[in-house]
Amino acid sequence: MTYRLKPEEVERAAELLREGKLVAFPTETVYGLGASIFNPEAIKEIFRVKGRPADNPLIAHVCNFSQIEQIAIELSPRFFRLAKQFFPGPLTLVVKKHARVTDIVSAGRDTIALRMPQNPIAMGLIAELGEPIVAPSANLSGKPSATHFEHVLEDFDGEIAAVIEGEQCALGIESTVLSLLRDPPVLLRPGAITKQMLEDVLDSPIQLADAHTPVAAPGMKYRHYSPNTPIELFYTSQALCLAAQRERRPMILSLQGEVAGCLGEHFVLSPRSLYALFRLADKENYSAILILYDELQAADPALQNRMILSINGAHRPFSKRVLLGKNCF
Ligand code: TXA
Ligand code: MG
Repeated sequence: MTYRLKPEEVERAAELLREGKLVAFPTETVYGLGASIFNPEAIKEIFRVKGRPADNPLIAHVCNFSQIEQIAIELSPRFFRLAKQFFPGPLTLVVKKHARVTDIVSAGRDTIALRMPQNPIAMGLIAELGEPIVAPSANLSGKPSATHFEHVLEDFDGEIAAVIEGEQCALGIESTVLSLLRDPPVLLRPGAITKQMLEDVLDSPIQLADAHTPVAAPGMKYRHYSPNTPIELFYTSQALCLAAQRERRPMILSLQGEVAGCLGEHFVLSPRSLYALFRLADKENYSAILILYDELQAADPALQNRMILSINGAHRPFSKRVLLGKNCF
């Protein structure tokens, strides 16, 4: 059985972590599935329940700078500059790992990803435990991340010790991940803290990760964020409306929340709503998720990144229906 803990029950949650159990908790980005960083057996259990490949390292969540110094070494002036500006917040910084942290966390690497979440429940839990908490997003590997505690239960009810019932996550998309191991630093995963914001604070350029970047986040190569319902992207509302006509029950997503003249159920697409809508489509048996895409390109690189990954990752035959080129229409 999975306990549903109220936010004021962090003491109980910390006790479970101390016993080596797994506890899911809210952050400002998405829910995390936590274990104590100093409990290798519990960390192995995270990989098992998620079905996570062992070569995909975990983020260590801290609540103060002295915890950072316990688990990381050789912290650079760049690190302190960014941390001072953005911690706590939706930024994860990859630095050199202290040898006392098990290699299971870092998937054998000598590096560690650090994040200080901007959420009172998460911060309270880490403080109560008195140790950093390692946590991936609290979803089955490959599925959309959990932005509500009910999503966590959809994936893990009966499999983990507890979930803390926080509110819906404020941001809804995972943290920005930046590697400080190279010069210039490399943006491994876009998020709410943008490339421009990072460059402004560093006062120097950063590089975008591509398939050849040696420090790339291993997580970005896997199928990700994918609902079972097929997704199609459209560059024009006419093309989307045509597709909607042949669907039994289309879920229509756009930044405006309404594509004029299209039959179907319309929703506002935003970073905050993306994963919840993907999960809703599966749960309520929509026949397809139809997304008006052109307006998104300029709007939000993080949202765009998650949509592309969720589609490239789609593994069912239906994924052939994904229309990315303009001349598809
Ligand atoms: O917002 C977030 O970051 C959420 C909340 C729970 O904090 N966590 C999250 O964790 O998204 P996860 O495990 O789903 O994604 C972590 C990403 C993966 O792409 C992983 O490969 C990368 O960070 N990562 C972790 N440690 C790394 C390291 N040492 N070097 C390079 N990439 C790393
Ligand atoms: Mg994840």
